[in-house]
Amino acid sequence: MKKIAILTSGGDAPGMNSCIRAVVRAATSENLEIFGIRRGYEGLINGDLIHMDRRSVANIIHLGGTILGTARSAEFRTKEGRTLAIKVLRQYGIDGLVLIGGDGTFRGGTQLALECGVAIIGVPGTIDNDVYGTDFTIGFDTAINTALESIDRIRDTALSHDRLFFVEVMGRHTGYIALESGLAGGAEEVLIPEIPTSIDELCDRLLNSFGAGKRSAIVVVAEGEQAGDSFRIAREVKEKCGYESRVCILGHVQRGGSPTARDRVLASKLGAATVSGLLNGKSGCMVGEMCGEIAYTPLEDTWNKKKELNHSLRELALLLAG
Ligand code: F6P
Repeated sequence: MKKIAILTSGGDAPGMNSCIRAVVRAATSENLEIFGIRRGYEGLINGDLIHMDRRSVANIIHLGGTILGTARSAEFRTKEGRTLAIKVLRQYGIDGLVLIGGDGTFRGGTQLALECGVAIIGVPGTIDNDVYGTDFTIGFDTAINTALESIDRIRDTALSHDRLFFVEVMGRHTGYIALESGLAGGAEEVLIPEIPTSIDELCDRLLNSFGAGKRSAIVVVAEGEQAGDSFRIAREVKEKCGYESRVCILGHVQRGGSPTARDRVLASKLGAATVSGLLNGKSGCMVGEMCGEIAYTPLEDTWNKKKELNHSLRELALLLAG
């Protein structure tokens, strides 16, 4: 192994830069040459590579976003797109590729690993935390803390106006962000895609709480197929039990900001582990952390298998609310 390349792909996540730094510095410590690929698979297809060294990752450990840029590449999903990407890898003589991203990135990476003969290791970087093979993804801790800060602020105004609020958080198809920010934010109810929402049950809970003397409430809603579903829920609650409410969609605010210490530590550990993994002959896998230990999981499992969400956290949130 002499030359490796690194890219970030899919939704950016705080801590991606800390991870790029770790990969570049661990690689140069092993005398590997390293290239950064700009804008994810798009940049790989178009040959947009830059040479990196220890100085090119100076002062980025605390920065949100990704210095390499990212994209969701439709072209890479085609055989023609991947053929162009493989040509670029050959042209640069790359023998190891590090992919930082989420399930979509690893789906593409699995296919590329089968077709290109280059050693590939993934690192889980997404605010959604929905990747099988790691307890936490890089960016999740920062995102839940960002969401929590907003929930705390909403609580101030909810209390002042005796209001019901619906706060919608990100997490396409999964309720991890909603669950943890909802529990930590003392939400009255947490609505997640893994448990179908019953407007009747939600109204019963709200009626009980307000009947018992509550003056305000916060319901944390995980975005569904499309952002903005909480407007529909708020409307149905108004129709069913008459409560006026306000809706606040946190959106992409949750994707930005300086990574927390936890995310920086995780990113540093996993970034360094990709380099040792590549040097030890690992390929076609993702490096994650499970129960505090570095764990390598076949790339295909990371998006094919479902990471189970801890439902008891929602029960705890409901038990403690009120
Ligand atoms: O996967 C991360 C994520 O932020 C999801 O939580 C969200 O549904 C999606 O990306 C939004 O994607 P985009 O930035 O393409 O709108």
